[in-house]
Amino acid sequence: MNRPHTSVVLATSADGKIADASSNPARFPSQTDKSRLEAHLAGVDAAIFGAGTLRAYGTSLSVRDPALLQRRQQRGLSPQPIQIVCSASGDLDRDWRFFRQPFPRWLLTGPEGARKWPEGFDRVLILSSWRETLDEFTRLGIRNLAVLGGGELIASLLEEGAIDEIYLTICPVLIGGKNAPTPVGGRGFLAGDFPGLELVSVESLEGEIFVHYRLARDIEKVSSVRES
Ligand SMILES: NC(=O)c1ccc[n+]([C@@H]2O[C@H](COP(=O)([O-])OP(=O)(O)OC[C@H]3O[C@@H](n4cnc5c(N)ncnc54)[C@H](OP(=O)(O)O)[C@@H]3O)[C@@H](O)[C@H]2O)c1
Repeated sequence: MNRPHTSVVLATSADGKIADASSNPARFPSQTDKSRLEAHLAGVDAAIFGAGTLRAYGTSLSVRDPALLQRRQQRGLSPQPIQIVCSASGDLDRDWRFFRQPFPRWLLTGPEGARKWPEGFDRVLILSSWRETLDEFTRLGIRNLAVLGGGELIASLLEEGAIDEIYLTICPVLIGGKNAPTPVGGRGFLAGDFPGLELVSVESLEGEIFVHYRLARDIEKVSSVRES
């Protein structure tokens, strides 16, 4: 598949939740985590997130740190990464602050969603299959893509084998609740089909744990790892 290098960046509670059961915005990560997220964002061409994430926050993160903005300029990148909302329905609210934030906005949606947005986005793409969409992203100059959540979008990209790296921040808080979203939603994988991960690095800072994983491409199924 011709696709961008794709990394997921997420913060979880110690019990593996990315939000509470009411899908409130995740305000539990520290300022250090937010700075690292901004630094990651400053290195990519585009960020993508599901409509559920935008419904929770009403905003997205822009790069504001002058040093990061300067580094983007030196690398020949656009001032801000493109912010791509994935929403089959296109049911989004024009009054959200997101629509006034200073970055390019794209919508990835179905034909009906596209009809709802004749304006408001710099580009509207029809999502047919991930293969075609990611190929289109590459054609449009997106070489590095950050996935900012949530669990439903991540699950559908994982099922397609379209994720290369995962950066997880484990925060010292418990959320609980079986309906609280986790990093991977969807139907879930069954034993023998779990995507495997390779641990790249672990760092602990002021009570938070920063874990960097790479998707294990050579090891298709976790069961085969354990059997070998
Ligand atoms: N802790 C963190 O770092 C973090 C980060 C981000 C989000 N969050 C939390 O995560 C929660 C949202 O996550 P979520 O899993 O519920 O939702 P989500 O993945 O953000 O969004 C789900 C929605 O995105 C669209 N979508 C996703 N995959 C699609 C596909 N393959 N094709 C077409 N449309 C697709 C659909 O939109 P439509 O319904 O419009 O069709 C779907 O309902 C929020 O509570 C937020 O606070 C936490």
